[in-house]
Amino acid sequence: MNNLILTKKILNWYDNNKRTLPWRKKCSQKQREYFTLVSEFMLQQTQVSTVIPYFKNFIKNIPNLDSLAKINEKKLLKYWEGLGYYSRVKNLKKTAKIIVIKYKKKLPITLGELTKLPGIGEYTANAILAIAFNKPYIPLDGNIERIIKRLLNLKSEAEISKENLIKQKKILGTSNRSSDYAQALMELGALICKPKKPLCDKCPLIKNCKSYKKQDFEITIKRKKKIDKFFMIKIFTRGTKILLIKNTKFNFLKNLKIFPMEEISKPKNLKKSLNFKMSNMNMNINIKVMKKMSNIKNSSWIEQSKFNSYTLPTFTKKIFSLLSKYL
Ligand code: ADE
Repeated sequence: MNNLILTKKILNWYDNNKRTLPWRKKCSQKQREYFTLVSEFMLQQTQVSTVIPYFKNFIKNIPNLDSLAKINEKKLLKYWEGLGYYSRVKNLKKTAKIIVIKYKKKLPITLGELTKLPGIGEYTANAILAIAFNKPYIPLDGNIERIIKRLLNLKSEAEISKENLIKQKKILGTSNRSSDYAQALMELGALICKPKKPLCDKCPLIKNCKSYKKQDFEITIKRKKKIDKFFMIKIFTRGTKILLIKNTKFNFLKNLKIFPMEEISKPKNLKKSLNFKMSNMNMNINIKVMKKMSNIKNSSWIEQSKFNSYTLPTFTKKIFSLLSKYL
């Protein structure tokens, strides 16, 4: 396969088909670095369409590294509320602080230094170097992995291992338009080489693709099975107020307000549980409306009519919206 031709085909397709995304706007190098940092943190676990309004609002209110490094945590969380995986935004702020203090407001430009920053792994470091600095790196995200798997029809465990995919990445070649090239590959994966029904008749690589030749579009993925966990949430009310506590107990959603909650063993009547998919578990929640008050640490009474104006985890808000059934 001729890499140069492949690269050209992909860039040509990108030039004619790329989406207008707010972090792709023409801007100064300083802004490019900041926009890339923020968008890549947001995009780590969240789809492009969900990220767009959050990114715009975040940038409008926190326009540069300096303001991000200084912002108070409560305000910061407000701009992230609903995106989930809140450790990302805490890490983003820590990273901004380190860049301002240690690197004199300039993002470092080596993989080694970038991956030492909080919240920046191998993937994000590669994405930053390619997108913000136009360096010849290709971040291996789900989209790009899929393109490699389909182009080469990689199916077995060994073939789809991370190490092999990193090795096979070389078939994609490199370009002096590295920033566009990384984004072009992600875009091709997201819009054309889709997981379920790839749009092969629109794909610039149709003639290069082994999976197309075989008409075998199925993708093998290594799935980490999420574990099920079970919780009991206790609802206390007093007049028009409802009780929340600051979460200091569980390692997820740390320091955010949640309903008083404890982990329990698998309940007999699982059908009555509410389910929430978190980053590392399936959360199954049973609700118990409490009649008597007991002493609870770190608690605050929230006026129910103002509930939605607080910065709260999505699952807490969802539970609140379902409570009329229970109260
Ligand atoms: N997913 C992760 N990073 C992305 C980017 N910069 N553009 C589109 N999708 C992405």
